[in-house]
Amino acid sequence: MLDKLNKLRDEALAAITAANGTRSLEDVRVKYLGRKGLLRGLLGGLPKLSDGEKPAAGRLANQAKQAITAAFDERRAALLRAAPARTGPAIDVTVPGTRRQLGTTHPITQVYDELVEVFARLGFETAYGPEIEDEYHNFEALNIPPDHPSRDGFDTFYLDHGGRHGLEQSGSAPLLRSHTSPVQIRVMETRQPPIRIVVPGKVFRPDTVDASHYPMFFQLEGLYVDEGVSFADLKACLTMAMQELLGEATRTRFRPSFFPFTEPSAEVDVSCPFCGGEGCKVCGQSGWIESLGAGMVDPEVFRHVGYDSEKYTGFAFGMGIDRIAMLKLGINDIRLFYENDVRFLQQF
Ligand code: DAH
Repeated sequence: MLDKLNKLRDEALAAITAANGTRSLEDVRVKYLGRKGLLRGLLGGLPKLSDGEKPAAGRLANQAKQAITAAFDERRAALLRAAPARTGPAIDVTVPGTRRQLGTTHPITQVYDELVEVFARLGFETAYGPEIEDEYHNFEALNIPPDHPSRDGFDTFYLDHGGRHGLEQSGSAPLLRSHTSPVQIRVMETRQPPIRIVVPGKVFRPDTVDASHYPMFFQLEGLYVDEGVSFADLKACLTMAMQELLGEATRTRFRPSFFPFTEPSAEVDVSCPFCGGEGCKVCGQSGWIESLGAGMVDPEVFRHVGYDSEKYTGFAFGMGIDRIAMLKLGINDIRLFYENDVRFLQQF
């Protein structure tokens, strides 16, 4: 036993000296000192020795273990001192860093925010309503009759069946709102005049996609109800807003039109911001660009929300935010807004 221990110790010490890297040194440690190592293996035979032999063998075993451990520690320290802290290529601190890509606000959002801000300066607060509406708020309360073409399944997304192809039902079918006007109703249902709100948001129509149509787009609705609100107020308000938005020199033109929820109604044009009204390709040589619908709130709408139309009058308007954004930013295809191509988005 003693001879074997001596032999083992000498072998281990030689192996430690021979190890030329921390990894091979570790292998040596495991081989001799590990839990299943040779030293433990030898000591497993200790109980079989006679009582006279045991103390000397135990002592020698301890000494061997200490000697091997000490040699190991020393060799390890020496190897670590000799090795460079890192191997492999050094870091080239002169290489330029990668610039972090900063996102920007989407162009639609920029114009959306600006519109809300312009109208806030004119005293309009912002209101919101649900994108999933019912027929009552989207149509009926707005005085849009059951046989109106916009109520057809080809012009409105109905949610509960393939579409509405007849006049037989009316009322509460769930649908994706086709305009922001239903929020006029929702606000008036819960509040009394004076009311001065704008409602920005998404609207949906089953249109075929082309340069000026997309099945989802944004509108901004406006509503002002109080005693003595007049068409002159409407003209002044929209003209100021358009000048803030498109430049001081912008002029507006109100053409007679029809909407079921306003009477009288108007189609509002703005002087072309590209040619200043001279006539160019963008405005089709007319000098004017159609930009929104507006009018005085129809008494029938007030009746639905329980307002006294003898006491209150109001104006309303609705515009396409995408359209205004295209005008403001000089974009000729609405699809660009929704393709999520960063080469486009980065320009704004
Ligand atoms: N809701 C109309 C549409 O989507 C736009 C509109 C026109 C809104 C006239 C109004 C308005 O509030 O007075 O085509």
